[in-house]
Amino acid sequence: MKRVLSGIQPSGQLHLGNYFGMMERMIRYQEQNDLFCFIVNYHALTTIFDREKLKRNTFEAACDFLALGLDPDKVTFWVQGDVPQVTELTWLLSNVTGMGLLERATSYKDKLAKGLTPNVGLFSYPILMAADILCYGADLVPVGKDQKQHLEMSRDIALRFNKTYGEVFVIPEPEIETTTQLVPGIDGQKMSKSYGNTIPLFADEKTLKKLIMSIVTDSTPVDEPKDKNSPLFQIYSLFLNSEERQKLSDRYDTPGLRYSEIKKELYDRMIEYFGPYRDKRDYLIKHRDYVFEVLEQGAQKAAVVADEYLQKAREAVGLNYRS
Ligand code: ADP
Ligand code: TRP
Repeated sequence: MKRVLSGIQPSGQLHLGNYFGMMERMIRYQEQNDLFCFIVNYHALTTIFDREKLKRNTFEAACDFLALGLDPDKVTFWVQGDVPQVTELTWLLSNVTGMGLLERATSYKDKLAKGLTPNVGLFSYPILMAADILCYGADLVPVGKDQKQHLEMSRDIALRFNKTYGEVFVIPEPEIETTTQLVPGIDGQKMSKSYGNTIPLFADEKTLKKLIMSIVTDSTPVDEPKDKNSPLFQIYSLFLNSEERQKLSDRYDTPGLRYSEIKKELYDRMIEYFGPYRDKRDYLIKHRDYVFEVLEQGAQKAAVVADEYLQKAREAVGLNYRS
């Protein structure tokens, strides 16, 4: 049985990019794998400085996952910061990580280019991510395309550690699905909590309608074929099977299509798709103690594995000086 692991930042409301890029697969995989799934609140500290916001987002992200069908009886589901062993491992890994490796990180460079003043946490973010993966011996890590480089860095760090100190860590494989690897946001850029261009999974109906109606479209006249390489087509396609997608494609090729009709259909489809999960989510939001209990048990299970890898790593580098 493969150990499959992935995490999500509680840096805002979870959205269609998160769902199709990672969550949907994780929930599907719980049936046949040893699944580890967590909310990475240490990572969110690199960009969120509002305590209440971080607490709320962490809780809501947990509710989202559970509402969407993650089953705590089948999965180890926890909040990263409840298992602090990972921060100690981060330190051990830091010493086999070259500055150059971190300096090449595109997500870090993008943030700088957008004018963010970097802190050391943001710079060393990929080492914490490597620790997340290596501390749990993950074989496979399902992610969106934006995380590809981070996964390569995790592999590099694991290889370097093993080469320096002996075989301690499993070398993880990324798993990126081509059809869902890069969901566009309402402005056509990658959908991301940090770009303010998301369609949250559980936005209220009025907000959802407004967001869908504001997905950017071009000014092709009604009586001409439309461009399928566009955010509206791509987002709507996520909800369609191959036959339905072909029909949509034919409609795009046929003059007369109005974007507003497609947007209305997408709205209806999204309400229908996430409707059943909404009720469950509302229930969970009101039953905080149940959610906390699930996360506590998850953290206890996760800590057993984290301890095991951390102890091996401590031994390998020579921290256990008494033995
Ligand atoms: P965000 O960029 O919104 O903060 P995260 O960094 O927390 O999202 O990503 C959580 C998971 O969702 C990762 O596996 C990431 O690759 C995936 N993901 C995020 N945005 C998208 C997207 N637009 N398309 C596909 N996958 C995405
Ligand atoms: N960096 C990932 C993201 O922003 C989140 C993350 C942290 C993660 N630790 C991880 C993903 C471990 C997979 C495995 O999406």
